[in-house]
Amino acid sequence: MRTEAPVAVQLSDYTAYPFEIEQVDLRFDLHPDATLVRADLKIRRTGAADAALELDGEALELKSIAIDGAPLPESAYELTESGLTLQDVPNAFTLVTEVEIAPSKNTALSGLYMSGGRFCTQCEAIGFRRITFYPDRPDVMSRFTVRMTADKETYPILLSNGTPGETGDVDDGRHFAVWDDPHKKPAYLFALCAGDYDVYRDQFTTMSGKVIDLAVHVDKGDADRAAWAMDSLKRSMKWDEETYGREYDLGVFNIVAVRDFNFGAMENKGLNIFNSAYVLADEASATDADFEAIESIVAHEYFHNWTGNRITCRDWFQLCLKEGLTVFRDQNFSADMRSRPVQRIKDVIRLRARQFAEDAGPLAHSVRPETYGAIDNLYTATVYEKGAEVIGMLRRILGEETYRKGMDLYFDRHDGQAVTIEDFYACFEEVSGDDFTQFRLWYSQAGTPEVSVEESWNPETREVAVTLKQRVPATPGQTNKKPMLIPMEMALIDDEGNMAEWITLFEDEELTLTFDLPEGSERPLVSINRDFTAPIRLKRNLDRETQLAMIRLETDPFNQWDAVQALAKQEILALSEGSQAEPDDALVDAIAAAVTGASDDPAFAALLARLPDVNELFLERQPADPVALDAARKKLQAALYGKLRQFADSVLGESSTQAYDPGAEQAGERALRTALIGLLAASGADEAGDRLLSLYKAATNMTEKLAALRGLAGLDGEARETALADFEAEWTSNPLVMDKWFGVQAGTGDAATIEKLAAHSAFDLRNPNRVRSVAAAFAMQNLAGFHAPDGSGYRVVEDIILKADKVNPALGARLLTAFEQWRSLEPKAKAEAEACLRRLQAADLSKNSADIVSRALG
Ligand code: ARG
Ligand code: ZN
Repeated sequence: MRTEAPVAVQLSDYTAYPFEIEQVDLRFDLHPDATLVRADLKIRRTGAADAALELDGEALELKSIAIDGAPLPESAYELTESGLTLQDVPNAFTLVTEVEIAPSKNTALSGLYMSGGRFCTQCEAIGFRRITFYPDRPDVMSRFTVRMTADKETYPILLSNGTPGETGDVDDGRHFAVWDDPHKKPAYLFALCAGDYDVYRDQFTTMSGKVIDLAVHVDKGDADRAAWAMDSLKRSMKWDEETYGREYDLGVFNIVAVRDFNFGAMENKGLNIFNSAYVLADEASATDADFEAIESIVAHEYFHNWTGNRITCRDWFQLCLKEGLTVFRDQNFSADMRSRPVQRIKDVIRLRARQFAEDAGPLAHSVRPETYGAIDNLYTATVYEKGAEVIGMLRRILGEETYRKGMDLYFDRHDGQAVTIEDFYACFEEVSGDDFTQFRLWYSQAGTPEVSVEESWNPETREVAVTLKQRVPATPGQTNKKPMLIPMEMALIDDEGNMAEWITLFEDEELTLTFDLPEGSERPLVSINRDFTAPIRLKRNLDRETQLAMIRLETDPFNQWDAVQALAKQEILALSEGSQAEPDDALVDAIAAAVTGASDDPAFAALLARLPDVNELFLERQPADPVALDAARKKLQAALYGKLRQFADSVLGESSTQAYDPGAEQAGERALRTALIGLLAASGADEAGDRLLSLYKAATNMTEKLAALRGLAGLDGEARETALADFEAEWTSNPLVMDKWFGVQAGTGDAATIEKLAAHSAFDLRNPNRVRSVAAAFAMQNLAGFHAPDGSGYRVVEDIILKADKVNPALGARLLTAFEQWRSLEPKAKAEAEACLRRLQAADLSKNSADIVSRALG
């Protein structure tokens, strides 16, 4: 059966809901196979007198329905696959419905489901309609109370949003708990958890002296591994007070970790639910990257309490209103906890690899799209990461102080409301007196702007001229674009490192800046888009000498790093195209010198030693040949290792005697060590296998152990098998660590490897982390394997997607996005990718997946 792409929802179709839901009382009688949900909705008409009451509902079995105590005959309502409509309702009334649902059969992990034998929920974006009949849209905000009943022994802990109330025992070994949330909220922020957990507890005293009870709920035996998440939470709470003046607004804050979760985490009011991968960590089982991710995701969800929960989105087109802003906030939190330049570089690597790719392919859409087929597919790098960049530009244009004033006004004016991007910008226009009309094109125009640069220098007049030209590439549905307002930090730097710095607001198609330098001046270095001020692609034709000078003279750490990246990219491209057989010695020397020169800042040195990967090279040259790019990258890595061998020996030879600390300082040292381990693995050196195995054995933390294992996984031979077997035996009962075991093999292997991993007894289609550790690690991080010209990579992933999509549409659709770059591929892979997409289109896919496939082919 062929699946039709879903009907699109349009931003321009927005109309307000014609009723207010003043109060929601929910009663859950929790049983895994048959949970009874009773909803008492106190409703008042606010719109047209003849407006029907429309409620969303999906996979619900209606047991009873009554208005003001009187049961309704079937003729009084219309029940469909997607909801319930009541034509003639009074102006003010109470509607009571009872439905039955089956959490144990909910493998889509949307709504109320079971994970690890416990109840949990995921309602954003449209999961609440799988719990009860309700206007499941973010602009309907209401007060919720919840009463849960469950077996006391199996589910001793019962949690929901807000403040805990009455508890007690009822018949048959069951007990109940009541929760009351005093804050009005949309249904997508509803949450419920029930089960037996170990609890890690602490307290936080807010700036006004209120004491908040904090708790992180985890699997039995995992409590100690929740310490870092708790520490991150307390630092987040403090940071939001200090940086944005935002205080927490309930007496309790709960986090629950669940094993089976479609995303990273969810900001439900007072009850954040997390993928356990972003809660649990200790030195032995988690890498520094895990610790960092936990810190930033805990912060992200906590920050949503103000940017998302207190002020929410009017409709899902406004998703970036909460997500872009909250990512921006969490990125700045991480920068304050660690190193600001290092954080910036990491954020840009991610943006370029994921968002630029999205912007350049068939799935491109604007930060605030005007249409969508399936809402789950709107949780994209563009909405999140580009959305965050736009806020960063806004702050840069306004300056810190005015930005903060605008945020204060936003919180003040819109607290308790569901609003739009226009409402948000009105606050900044008011405090600054500026007009952000052109700037807001960042929300409506998709595609990554390209800025080309031409420079000239007249030694007689000592005049520097810099001409900038901008162009926004065409994207699906958008062919003609207007010039954007691009803020760019710039500088002129002389060869002593002196400089003049300013910010250019580049708003026309073309702009020429000229500078007359004083008598005796030499040609200066022109530094553009410092700190990656704007999310653009800069096109610059610099000669090698200038590029090398940039590495030496740049005073902006981002641009200094990027100068090394630019050289490495050119070199990898030249090697991949065969226009050059071997890496240029002088160039490799320069990269090596940059690495060793930065060794007093090991985190930065690690970033310099990390060569751009295939994801970042993909867009540089079309058509792209991932296999050739990967081989060329390894060649350059090997050459770099050759230059850094002594340095690597000395760095890797030192073993730390300090007690493990996940903080930035030690993590930086480990980052350098792991970067060098990566180079060693790519070096092709005879002794690499043995060295890696002994590093693997000697490693006292997961960061270095995994780096060595990843290196080994990419080699052939006995050392590889020994390490993989050892790792599996040691960690077989820890699912998060086993995800890493699957991930390193998928990240380095070919289709045959994937087939083997998917046949492993621990591969589980119902666990998204596990499926991603195989299919996404391969299709999204191992582009040479996935885009194999014979199509084997596509076929093996296709197979997993078809199965995963049946179980869990959100997961299937997410994996499918790996195909988004198919049009830019070399002809062989391109033909295979297209054939695969056509097969998928003809298959019986979920609505979410059909949406991606039809757009990818579109
Ligand atoms: N709001 C969650 C966050 O903090 C993510 C929810 C994802 N939901 C979805 N349907 N994709 O980012
Ligand atoms: Zn978020």
